[in-house]
Amino acid sequence: MTELSLSDSKIKSKAFMGQMISIINGGALSLMISIGHKTGLFDIMDGSPPATSDEISKSAKLDERYVREWLSALSCGGILEHDSTAETFFLPPEHAGLLTRRSGPLNLAIPLQMIPLLGEVEEDIVDVFKNGGGVPYDRYPRFQELMAETSNNRFERTLLQQIVPILPVQDELSIGIDVADVGCGSGRALCILGAAFPNSRFVGFDMSIKGIEAAQAEAASLPNVTFEVADASALNQHERFDLVTTFDAIHDQAQPEQVLAGIYEMLKPGGSYLCVEPKASSVLAENLAEPMAPYMYTISTMHCMTVSLAYGGEGLGTAWGHQTATQYISRAGFENIEITGVKDDRSNSYFISRRAK
Ligand SMILES: C[S@@+](CC[C@H](N)C(=O)[O-])C[C@H]1O[C@@H](n2cnc3c(N)ncnc32)[C@H](O)[C@@H]1O
Repeated sequence: MTELSLSDSKIKSKAFMGQMISIINGGALSLMISIGHKTGLFDIMDGSPPATSDEISKSAKLDERYVREWLSALSCGGILEHDSTAETFFLPPEHAGLLTRRSGPLNLAIPLQMIPLLGEVEEDIVDVFKNGGGVPYDRYPRFQELMAETSNNRFERTLLQQIVPILPVQDELSIGIDVADVGCGSGRALCILGAAFPNSRFVGFDMSIKGIEAAQAEAASLPNVTFEVADASALNQHERFDLVTTFDAIHDQAQPEQVLAGIYEMLKPGGSYLCVEPKASSVLAENLAEPMAPYMYTISTMHCMTVSLAYGGEGLGTAWGHQTATQYISRAGFENIEITGVKDDRSNSYFISRRAK
């Protein structure tokens, strides 16, 4: 090794040491941020002047010793500002705008909760690395709740304002059409649509009993919205719907081709399909520079790919990408597939297509 390459190697190694330290600190802080969200500490501190740990813990009705340690971790992590003379802590408004419930879809504390949730199945994942297979849904006890919290925020902000306007059937929704959401989870999307379009009828399908029970409870006052526990790969609905939607519900299917074929079959001739899937390329090299790509492949390994493999499925993965998604949608028979997006949902691609007339 030349002198120059030795020093290059030292610089590289030092830089990587820095990167590793920030990964360790980021991992640690992700637990603290998740706790800050769950305990409501960020919301309590939002808009408040600098305060002591005693004052903050009293307002939040939490144990002072734990709150003080949490405040210390977040101050060292640059998330809070600390005044050592006054012994106070302050959440700057610029940070509060990305960490509090009032921030809606900008609240990054919500998707971040996936990290501690997925930490709970780490041993199961290590096991399938060694032995193959997958980890089934019932090993992720809080998945439906967290998925609902993540998606609901987005639906509230985008569904009526930005998604309905890109649908080919936006005018018909007011007149009265039949709509299905496949893999509907806890059902918020259909409840929002059902309340906004009382002349249309909405049916949500999901195999999660917990998800469907939550959806049914939410739809109790909406006579035009119903939910059914059903396997998306065996829906057997023939030409019943004018519009079918799937929100992040194809890539983690065990049998995505069968599901897409079933969706084609359940549409009336000329009916529309909106397929919303994580925004990615099918080519890894094209994702390398994407800011959230490490998160996407991690979520895939820890959940999306793995639940599919648990049921003997294809294991497409979260980043199956727009090229593969287009092939699958078109193989199911759909025509004129348009790939678009909406302003306040930068993490998903929106595929709009139609069944032939
Ligand atoms: C990533 S979640 C998305 C949920 C919801 N669409 C949303 O955006 O919040 C995927 C959903 O697909 C459901 N799912 C997966 N495989 C299914 C199958 N074979 N039949 C019905 N639902 C299924 C899961 O239970 C889960 O609720």
